[in-house]
Amino acid sequence: MNSNANDISGYTYGTPAIAVSSATLNDLQRLKTSVGFTEDDERSLLLAGFVLKDDVERIVKHWRANIIAGIPHLAKHSRNLDGSPSPDYLARSNRRFEQWIIDTCTRTYDQDWLNYQQEIALRHTSVKKNQTDNVVSTPYVPYSDIVAFVAVLNETIKPYLAAKGHTESEVSSMHKAWIKSMHIQMALWSKTYMESGEHGKEW
Ligand code: HEM
Repeated sequence: MNSNANDISGYTYGTPAIAVSSATLNDLQRLKTSVGFTEDDERSLLLAGFVLKDDVERIVKHWRANIIAGIPHLAKHSRNLDGSPSPDYLARSNRRFEQWIIDTCTRTYDQDWLNYQQEIALRHTSVKKNQTDNVVSTPYVPYSDIVAFVAVLNETIKPYLAAKGHTESEVSSMHKAWIKSMHIQMALWSKTYMESGEHGKEW
């Protein structure tokens, strides 16, 4: 699973299909400084990538099947407009979500990474949601629900980080680096949301 990202339908990281982000590398540096993201965090994330890589299917299932599916105002975004399941949509976006875990941990945070941050954010807004999988579902995921759900990602990732027998201190370092990355990513996504659609409507 996920050994070859090229096999993932709709996964277009680093390809010419992806627009250049409006956030610059200077913006990224500023956010890294604001959040206190260091080279130690980069190393911890690489270790986290090694720890998580065989578990990503289980982790995304945990988030989506065990948590989101039980919360109607969240579950509807992966369903048809009448509320019926859309299994292919779910399965395809699950694969890309799984790859995102690996990318978060192992990719260099460079221009390609920034560009794909913008692309993923757009795929939650009315600019691009539903298009990758050619489905008819809700027009966007509210930004506020995404930010709120980060608390769930951060809490639930910890046991997976601890699952390969690393010391408490190593697990704690991986977890802190993960949380900093989440904050950087949400700061970047907020720019995309502010720039998309009618001002403030997709909050
Ligand atoms: C907590 C932060 C979140 C992260 C990091 C995240 C990450 C991702 C990623 C990586 C993808 C695949 C992007 C792609 O299409 O290539 C995705 C897609 C998707 N996510 Fe999220 N997500 C988050 C929150 C949520 C929430 C709260 C919901 C709604 C309950 C949600 C619903 C969706 C849907 C419906 C898609 C498919 C979008 C499309 O039509 O292309 N996401 N997400």
